[in-house]
Amino acid sequence: MSALMQTYAPLPVSFDRGEGPLVFDTEGRRYLDGLSGIAVTNLGHAHPAVTEALAEQSARLLHCSNLYRIDAQEEAGALLTARAGMERVFFSNSGAEANEAAIKLARLHAHQRGIEKPRVIVLEGAFHGRTLATLSAGGNRKIQAGFSPLVDGFVRAPRNDLSALEKIAASSRDVAAVLLEPVQGESGVHVLDTDYLKAVRKLCDTQGWLLMFDEVQTGNGRTGSYFYYQQLGFAPDVVTTAKALGNGVPIGACLARGEAAEVFSPGNHGSTYGGNPLACAAARAVLQCHNDNQLISRAPIITQQLLSSFEASLGHRAAVAEVRRAGAMIGIELIGECGDLPGKALEAGILLNVTAGSTIRLLPPLVMSDEQARQFGATVAQLVDQWAAHSQQFAGAA
Ligand SMILES: Cc1ncc(COP(=O)(O)O)c(C=O)c1O
Repeated sequence: MSALMQTYAPLPVSFDRGEGPLVFDTEGRRYLDGLSGIAVTNLGHAHPAVTEALAEQSARLLHCSNLYRIDAQEEAGALLTARAGMERVFFSNSGAEANEAAIKLARLHAHQRGIEKPRVIVLEGAFHGRTLATLSAGGNRKIQAGFSPLVDGFVRAPRNDLSALEKIAASSRDVAAVLLEPVQGESGVHVLDTDYLKAVRKLCDTQGWLLMFDEVQTGNGRTGSYFYYQQLGFAPDVVTTAKALGNGVPIGACLARGEAAEVFSPGNHGSTYGGNPLACAAARAVLQCHNDNQLISRAPIITQQLLSSFEASLGHRAAVAEVRRAGAMIGIELIGECGDLPGKALEAGILLNVTAGSTIRLLPPLVMSDEQARQFGATVAQLVDQWAAHSQQFAGAA
């Protein structure tokens, strides 16, 4: 019996080491990784620059507390804010904590402007983390079940529906901010309409609301630019990120510009580990690796190679309801539940994930070669064909 609390249902495999886009289990079997630990190891496994930075930093100083100036944090902060076009950053340990910081920032900003009970607008289908506030901000009733009372102060709107936001604007004076993922990952890779996002930016400006993007999953090169908003031609006031920022070392960040950058003062917020020397040495190395944009520019190419091979190899076309993508973030929605596919994928020597019950989610590392991407796409097509051949839902639809 495992000593661990039963929060996960792990597949029966144990990984021993990784190398670029490959991982090897304890039996020495090799897998092509199309998931990157859920958008974390964007630079691939055992990236030499990150390994070296960690070895160097851990031999000198792992931790010292934010009671003291941390040079690695200052340096990672300068690189990240420059990359983001933001002014200041708070470092946390995870994506959920980065979003907690953003929610607290929005509330404090509102209080400073005389709003006593500020609310944050969030979207249906959103996922912002598993802490109580971020769980409450998310739109997944299943993972909220059993945890009431949830945290108050969120108002929900359908995604891509500007009129819903305008109605909230017309009827309430207590809105502090809009918090959204520009590409919803957990809900099945739903890319929000660019026109909608631009209109939300305008509405936030006219209403004096903060626009806050959760780029925990989309950030750090995943979608073909460092942050997704850099393809939109405008910036949010606050952006959060985590996951690939440390390429596997836990670190998150809440960045802000303008008025939002000056909201916190000493004592408002903090973390023991957040921004410690080890985590920031990893983030600094990651940011330096992305300096030349070479890997980031691979994101759409990998996806194009992977999907064209998938489509060319697929037999049961009617099994696929929709394919959605943003850079190297891919959702292949099947016409029925396919929760057993990650297990079947392991048997076929690849790693993938299923989200929202019926969407195959692929988040390949940016170091995957064209040939590996094509091989991966063909294997996914075989798995979908096998799924269709055995699926009752497919038999019903076909
Ligand atoms: C968009 C988004 N926000 C927040 C989180 C939570 O991040 P973490 O698991 O690091 O707390 C995730 C994790 O999947 C995410 O995808």
